Amino acid sequence: MTSSFPTRRLRRLRKNEKMRNLVQEITFSPNDLICPVFVQEDLKSRIQVDSMAEIERLPLSDITKEVEEIKNLKIPAIMLFGVPTKKDDAGTAAFVDDGIVQKAISEIRKNFGDSIVIMADVCLCQYTTSGHCGLLKGNHIDNDSSNETLAKIALSQARAGVDIVSPSAMMDGQVKAIRERLDREGFTDVGIMSHSAKHRSSFYSPFRDMASCAPQFGDRKSYQVPFTNPREAMREIESDINEGVDIVMVKPALAYLDLIAEAKRRFNIPISAYSVSGEYALVKGAAKQGWINEIDVMSEILFSIKRAGADMIVTYFAKMMAKQLNNP
Ligand code: PBG
Repeated sequence: MTSSFPTRRLRRLRKNEKMRNLVQEITFSPNDLICPVFVQEDLKSRIQVDSMAEIERLPLSDITKEVEEIKNLKIPAIMLFGVPTKKDDAGTAAFVDDGIVQKAISEIRKNFGDSIVIMADVCLCQYTTSGHCGLLKGNHIDNDSSNETLAKIALSQARAGVDIVSPSAMMDGQVKAIRERLDREGFTDVGIMSHSAKHRSSFYSPFRDMASCAPQFGDRKSYQVPFTNPREAMREIESDINEGVDIVMVKPALAYLDLIAEAKRRFNIPISAYSVSGEYALVKGAAKQGWINEIDVMSEILFSIKRAGADMIVTYFAKMMAKQLNNP
């Protein structure tokens, strides 16, 4: 017979709110959030995208107001995505000095100094005619020439004043190519947060409407990690660490909590999680129907991502979560 004395009374520590606060294990602050910001070239006024609820594409002229709001919510960082007017085979609009993201970065740097961390996406899919994250050679996505272009994008963003570049193209060696280029040009202080274990996921569809970056043929299976391969995801993270990354990422987040936990256990480096557009849309959609409480479900999901081991979360809920944390 197993001894059952004394009865384990876990309910003692749950008896009132102050007691529960005292023993709370996982905490969450606005400092854990990174807020995505979409900026579109030649845009006159904000555009909404159905599948992304309250997230909008902004014209450059609205960027200061948006960042002000994010900063006032005590969110420490933004992640910029650009939507260019012109796409071409080389993804030129991604690395020109007067590109939309480069302009947004300098504007924010000029108006906010060091009071917000500016991160920017480094990828090609919004900028290439093919909608692929790398450059084409024939019908295949060419790894090494893509890396050269990714490094050029990162360099142009560094010149504009970015703090952290965030490559999401999933080319092998992209971190190394970017690190070497930045260092060579004197930008040793610009950091890299790589989308290290970025999976081939159906949770990205709303983002593709938002950023207008759906592949025009085929899919991203030849470069993004299959969701069936957790060891391969760890090898991706390990490679990025060996190439000099500063922050690694697991993406998406909610269906990949096991990988966040595993990465946390294995690696000695800050871990970010990207709670992607489809995760946001699921909650927004159900809430709109009145089926769930949006604030409560958002909070439960974001806490679960932190509990799994994420040090910071890129999420479309950033502003809503920060509001909730600031005024519970
Ligand atoms: C493309 C990119 C994607 C996302 C971020 N960067 C889409 C894709 O790989 O097709 C998805 C983010 C989201 O769904 O919120 N480089």
